[in-house]
Amino acid sequence: MLVLGIETSCDETGVALWDSCRGLLANLLHSQADLHAAYGGVVPELASRDHIRKISPLVQEALGEACVQLPDLDGVAYAAGPGLMGALLVGAAFGRSLAWSLDKPAIGVHHMEAHLLAPLIGADQPPLPFVALLVSGGHTQLVKVGGIGAYDMLGESLDDAVGEAFDKVGKMLGLGYPGGPAVAACAEDGDPVRFRFPRPMTDRPGLDFSFSGLKTFALNTVNAHQPLTGQDRADIARAFEEAAVDTLVIKCRRALAACGCQHLVMAGGVSANRRLRRRLKAQLDAEVHYAEPSLCTDNGAMIAYAGCQRLSAGERTPLHIVTRPRWPMTELLPAILRDNVH
Ligand code: KG4
Ligand code: ZN
Repeated sequence: MLVLGIETSCDETGVALWDSCRGLLANLLHSQADLHAAYGGVVPELASRDHIRKISPLVQEALGEACVQLPDLDGVAYAAGPGLMGALLVGAAFGRSLAWSLDKPAIGVHHMEAHLLAPLIGADQPPLPFVALLVSGGHTQLVKVGGIGAYDMLGESLDDAVGEAFDKVGKMLGLGYPGGPAVAACAEDGDPVRFRFPRPMTDRPGLDFSFSGLKTFALNTVNAHQPLTGQDRADIARAFEEAAVDTLVIKCRRALAACGCQHLVMAGGVSANRRLRRRLKAQLDAEVHYAEPSLCTDNGAMIAYAGCQRLSAGERTPLHIVTRPRWPMTELLPAILRDNVH
């Protein structure tokens, strides 16, 4: 099955072609980071307009790269939520209309389910059930996965997502947008013991997270050390990263123990963080699965892959173009997780 995947939920236009026999045939991404950098964050209207400019040329380019033509497609998958309404509408309107014009099935994909499945692209499937740690700019969630669409929410952030906290700390350190990769790079030169930041909500039972206090702690430290030297920046970035990573590791360990699982799948933009990857591997008594960095952050491949799983299970999205800026993953219905669908 050959599926075109379209991702436009936020500030990246992603287009990919996934073939269930041949694997990933094309995976193109246009990042809007430069467009939004001047504003220190994503400007929704600018994001939608840029998706409109980029979507069609990217689809043409992907088809050319994969040496396939539109009639060769067996289906079209697009991110239908959660995300920015205007941005989602671009990919959904384009993808749904394209599928209609070709008389092929379409599927509106849940962006976080696509993140969750990305580590399985071209890899061995971990045995079910497993625990997934979803860490992106908008979500921090621990999920027990019993199959595609069989998700039990074990815990989530009560306020900021961890990626959002990385972005805000990046901003307060003057590291630009997006902050996550910049904070991680800056932390490399930081002293791990000069500052000790709190590990929020780890001193009580439970699997929920809270990152806004950690962010405020970082802000207070920044304000107390003005003007910041390069070393101050690195030390604060390191202290923040250590605290965020430690917190995630502690909660993952708890979640695995609570579910009796030996496999952890980590996904979403923050799963590209090298310290987090290393610590989870070293400190958990479990096998840790994650995707290559380009498949951790937003991309079209994960949408094509997740769409292929859903289409293979016989699911179809009707002709109405529906997007859901807020869409709890637990509302998804189960599909059959088949061996070797990829
Ligand atoms: O999954 P994603 O691309 O978009 C959303 O669905 O939100 O995640 C983006 C988030 C941003 O907050 C970004 O700063 C963060 O992932 N991120 C990182 C790293 N790479 C991306 N955070 C920490 N370390 C990284 N290396
Ligand atoms: Zn995402």
